[in-house]
Amino acid sequence: MSIILDKVSYLYGQGTSYEIMALKDISLKIDDNEFIGIIGHTGSGKSTLTQHLNGLIKATSGHIYVDGEDIYDDDYDMKKLRGNVGLVFQYPEHQLFETTVFDDVCFGPKNQGLDKKTVELRAFEALYNVGFPEELFYSSPFELSGGQKRRVAIAGVLAMKPKVLILDEPTAGLDPAGRDEIFDLLKKMQQELNMTIILVSHSMEDVANYVNRIIVMDKGQIMLDGKPREVFKYYRELEKMGLAAPQVTYLMHELRERNLDVDVDATTVEEAKISILKALGEI
Ligand SMILES: Nc1ncnc2c1ncn2[C@@H]1O[C@H](COP(=O)(O)OP(=O)(O)OP(=O)(O)O)[C@@H](O)[C@H]1O
Ligand SMILES: [Mg+2]
Repeated sequence: MSIILDKVSYLYGQGTSYEIMALKDISLKIDDNEFIGIIGHTGSGKSTLTQHLNGLIKATSGHIYVDGEDIYDDDYDMKKLRGNVGLVFQYPEHQLFETTVFDDVCFGPKNQGLDKKTVELRAFEALYNVGFPEELFYSSPFELSGGQKRRVAIAGVLAMKPKVLILDEPTAGLDPAGRDEIFDLLKKMQQELNMTIILVSHSMEDVANYVNRIIVMDKGQIMLDGKPREVFKYYRELEKMGLAAPQVTYLMHELRERNLDVDVDATTVEEAKISILKALGEI
């Protein structure tokens, strides 16, 4: 599924004295099977942007085309769009409310009007895909750990079989182990289920290690958009926006300044390791 944003702007409180321009002239194209990280300072417009992608917020001006169709056309099927573009809000576990994990995951597909058998099959599949332990399917969501609750919430959206999955700060509030687990899970889902995953994150380190494309936002605009190693070249500009490149970027630049011939564009610890060993003549 391709999504095109053409000069999308959004004003909160349009026409009031509190008017805020949250998005300004955003143009971008999202293709099939991408893994995108959206990064930016607080208030830069990340959540506002993601909520445009499934029609939850309507642009003040500009157009959004999904598979070539203008989603603001009067006869456009918004309900279908909501099914195709699944949105996992920040702290989604706050929205778990059914008595069992399984019932909770059934909620979305049930609402899509599917029959009982299909709904249950979808729920099983989704829980399986997020690696949720079977012996806990019928326990109360409130008895689970933070990481498990997060998985259930993600499964709830996955059960609607979206083609694009958007997650707003999917690892917020989790410990480092829980964070790695969720990122590993998303990477696996993106590859095995052939879906596009878009995640909002504050952590450059996490994003650098997992995504294929980074979109950097600042004050409602897109400042950078590209592969991690292209984006981190601009680490000085990122700092001016209150962001930082991964630690690896700084380390590699420092080594280069000390005349070790390393690849300054390495973005992951693994890439850095190989480059340093090479420069030292070990491999
Ligand atoms: N419901 C709202 N009403 C009015 N202004 C809002 C509303 N939601 C967001 N804003 C404003 O719009 C701008 C963009 O906010 P948004 O929540 O999209 O940023 P964000 O990048 O997701 O921030 P964070 O990292 O804190 O989640 C900010 O100036 C914010 O104060
Ligand atoms: Mg936000």
